Amino acid sequence: MKFYELTPAKRRALLRQRGIELDEIDEQVLHDLDLLSENVIGQLRLPVGLVQNVLVNDQNYQVPLATEEPSVVAAANHVVKIVTEAGGFTADSQRNGIWGQIVLQVDADFKIAQLQAFFPELIKKAHNEYASLVFHGGGVKTITAEQEKDLVFLKVLIDPAESMGANRVNSILEYMAKQLAAFSGIKQKLFAILSNYPSQITKIKAEIPVEVIGGIETAQKIALLSRIGQTDPMRAVTNNKGIMNGVEAVLLASGNDTRAVEAACSVWAAKSGSYTSLSKWYVQDEKLVGGLSLPLPIGVVGGSIKSRKDVKQTYRILGEKITSQELANIIATIGLANNLAALLAIATQGIQKGHMKLQARNIVANLDATSPEKKKVLQMLINNKLYSQTAAQNFLKEIRKENNASRN
Ligand code: MEV
Repeated sequence: MKFYELTPAKRRALLRQRGIELDEIDEQVLHDLDLLSENVIGQLRLPVGLVQNVLVNDQNYQVPLATEEPSVVAAANHVVKIVTEAGGFTADSQRNGIWGQIVLQVDADFKIAQLQAFFPELIKKAHNEYASLVFHGGGVKTITAEQEKDLVFLKVLIDPAESMGANRVNSILEYMAKQLAAFSGIKQKLFAILSNYPSQITKIKAEIPVEVIGGIETAQKIALLSRIGQTDPMRAVTNNKGIMNGVEAVLLASGNDTRAVEAACSVWAAKSGSYTSLSKWYVQDEKLVGGLSLPLPIGVVGGSIKSRKDVKQTYRILGEKITSQELANIIATIGLANNLAALLAIATQGIQKGHMKLQARNIVANLDATSPEKKKVLQMLINNKLYSQTAAQNFLKEIRKENNASRN
C-alpha cells in the first residue's frame, strides 16, 4: 500500500517503526485532520490570543489571533486600546472580486472583436451553470481581452460573494475556456486559472491625538520612520513584516489562505515600480494619522472554514454573522495596529525591551523544570532584565540550590 493509502494511525506506526518519536494525538482529532489534508500524521498547534474591543467603523469586535509570537498579540492590544479610545479605526473595503486569467493561443483566422462580442453570452452561460454563486450575490463581473501576437489574454473579474473563492473561480474559468474551444481561430487553451494579482482592496485609517502617544516629538519620529519606509526597501520590508504579523495571525485564526494574501501583498507593496511600505504615517493638526491599504482575498465561508472546530470557535468570538467585508476590515486593522506598535516602540524605548520581556516566556517554556520553577525563573529574568537561555538555566540552578538548602 502507498503511504497516502494508509490510515493516519498506520502512517504513524510506520514512522515509529523507523525510530521516529511522535507526539500523542487524540484519535478523533487525527481522523478529522485526515479529512482536511494529505498524508496526515499529526498536528501543529498554535496559541490563540485575543485582541479586545477593536472598534472599526463604530462596531466593536473581539478578535482572535493565532500566532506563536507573544509580542504580536500584546502589541495589537496596546495600539487597539489607544485608537479605540481615540474614536476607532475607519475602514473601507472594495470587494469587487478576484482575478482570473484565460490564455489562448490563436491563429491568423482569429478576430478579437468576434471574441469580445461573445462575452455577454459567455457570462450568461457561466451564470446559468453557477447559479448558486449568483444566488449568493456573486458572479462574473467583467471580461476583457488583449492580444499579443498569437496569444490572447482574457482577464476575468469574478465576485466570489462571501467566500475567498479560489476553487469556484477556477471552476468557472475552466468552464468558460471550454465554451471557447470551438471558437474560430483558437488553436488551444494554454491555461485558465485564477490570478493572485491584488484585488479585494481594504483601506484603513486611524487618527490619534499626539499627546496619547507621548507627544509631538514621538509622533514626528514615527512619521519620519514611515517616510524612510517609503523609499528604503530594507526598512520597508521590515515595516511590512510587522503588518503581516497581525494580518496573518487573523488569517490563520479565521481559516483563511495566508499564502494568497502574502503573494498579493508583496505585489501591492511594489505597485509603484519599487518596493515600499504598505502603510503611511504623518502628523496633521496635532494628530498622528496613519493609513494602510491591502489586498485581502479572504472569505467567511468555503474552504475548511466550516469543517474545523478551532476555526469555528473564531467565528463564535468574532460574531457568527460577520461578513467577508467586516473580516477584511478587521484583518487590515490588526495589521495597522501591529505596525504602529512597532513604530511606537522603535521611536521610544527600542523594540527589544518589550519583545524580550515577552520572549522570556518562550525561553522559560523550553526549560526542563516544574511549573512553579518556571514561574519563578520567568520573574527572575524579568526583574534582572536578562533574557537568555543561559540566564534562565542559571536562575533555575539558583532556585534548586535554595530549595535543597531549605530542605536540609
Ligand atoms: C518584528 O516581528 C516586527 C518588527 O520588526 C516590525 C518593524 O520593525 O516595523 C518590529
